[in-house]
Amino acid sequence: MKKTFLIKPMLSEIYPVVDYGKGVYLYDLQGRQYLDACSGAVTANIGHGVKEVIEAMNKQAEKVSFVYRSQFTSEPAEQLAKKISELAAGDLNWSFFMNSGSEATETAMKVAIQYWQEKGIKTKHKIVSRWVSYHGITLGALSMSGHSSRRERFVPLLEDFPTVHPPYCYRCPFNKTINDCGYLCAHELEIAIQRIGVEHIAAFIAEPIIGAAGAAITPPPEYYKIIKEICERHDILFIADEVMTGFGRTGTMFAFEQWDIVPDIVALGKGMGAGYTAIAATLVSDHVMEPILHGSKVVMSGHTHSANPQSCATSLAVLDYLEQHQIVQSVFEKSRYLFSKLQTLQNQFSYIGDVRGKGLLIGIEFVQNSVTKEPFPRNLLFTQTFIKQAFHNGLLLYPAGSGLDGIHGDGIILSPPLTISETEMDDLIERLTKTCKEIDQILLKGG
Ligand SMILES: Cc1ncc(COP(=O)(O)O)c(C=O)c1O
Repeated sequence: MKKTFLIKPMLSEIYPVVDYGKGVYLYDLQGRQYLDACSGAVTANIGHGVKEVIEAMNKQAEKVSFVYRSQFTSEPAEQLAKKISELAAGDLNWSFFMNSGSEATETAMKVAIQYWQEKGIKTKHKIVSRWVSYHGITLGALSMSGHSSRRERFVPLLEDFPTVHPPYCYRCPFNKTINDCGYLCAHELEIAIQRIGVEHIAAFIAEPIIGAAGAAITPPPEYYKIIKEICERHDILFIADEVMTGFGRTGTMFAFEQWDIVPDIVALGKGMGAGYTAIAATLVSDHVMEPILHGSKVVMSGHTHSANPQSCATSLAVLDYLEQHQIVQSVFEKSRYLFSKLQTLQNQFSYIGDVRGKGLLIGIEFVQNSVTKEPFPRNLLFTQTFIKQAFHNGLLLYPAGSGLDGIHGDGIILSPPLTISETEMDDLIERLTKTCKEIDQILLKGG
């Protein structure tokens, strides 16, 4: 094996070397084909190798790739901010650009704190969050994340923000069912606010659909209406972390539209650049910007590459592509098709405990016993084994946590490029079914 100097996710593993990508498929240097059923990390939303985006990237590179934001603005940056303000509901009109989802949620946190400071309230520094959540890996974003295994090494450096349970109907934290729960998980926020003291809380943050930490945990219909009402009544801003769900992944441009609410601040990432560039954004509503515009006039955040014309032009090209091919509009139909196929798989394999999600953000939770919902023992490394087997079958899947403690649970996310065709979905299901059968055999052998 050639000596490597690259720090990869698992230092003991050997990774195939990618050669190129086309549509929903990736090819390695050995010529092996992989169906990208998770868009990498729920990112390559329009598939690989899209000519129109590559052309737009080259065109911008020929003009200028980088300017520093304190010296110049640029047409692509201005146009992208304008475009997003047209797409976003309510008065979500302002965009701050950066490079990653972690930076977007961390900036959201800082803007929320600054908002209250500019209004003369200097005590609101806490961000209430949920256990079983992920908002990013930088220390501020990790502080907001209810993701035990990612927090573990850094706990002394983190704020202990997460406070309330997730809206996890498959494993209701209150042992209720959706018909008799009275939305206890949403109302729990009110109790948390009273305990902490509203004078200390700047905002509540939530992923509309819980991704990496919860395998697409999707709240019931009234959940966010109740959350938003509680936030408003207690003078707490609501931050929607749409890093995974944003730009059409769930069948609407922003997932929060499906619960008929408008957040005060939104974090975007992944799908914004669709893997063609590193770009993310914090969207801020007019009413949150207002005291800043009349106060310090400076949002205290920023990165060297914030709003660079190259990334902004790329993101604009991604948005153009989504619009011109009416891709977001096609998501519900594709979702219906995939869900129906997955239902059949669930009936066939008892270890598929739950299939959930919206649009093309679909989670599968695996259980040892589908009646008791008992998870597999940790030492079985079920998720890793499943993903490896799928990989062997040329199918890329995204690992996700599951279980109320975020540790004892197994899951995956299926999130193919939104451009996937019916034939390609059939190919996906075929590879997944093969994997399920092989895993069944492994389980039968007691592996
Ligand atoms: C909901 C959510 N927020 C934030 C992040 C962090 O984004 P990034 O990895 O680009 O920093 C992620 C990444 O998976 C995410 O899923």
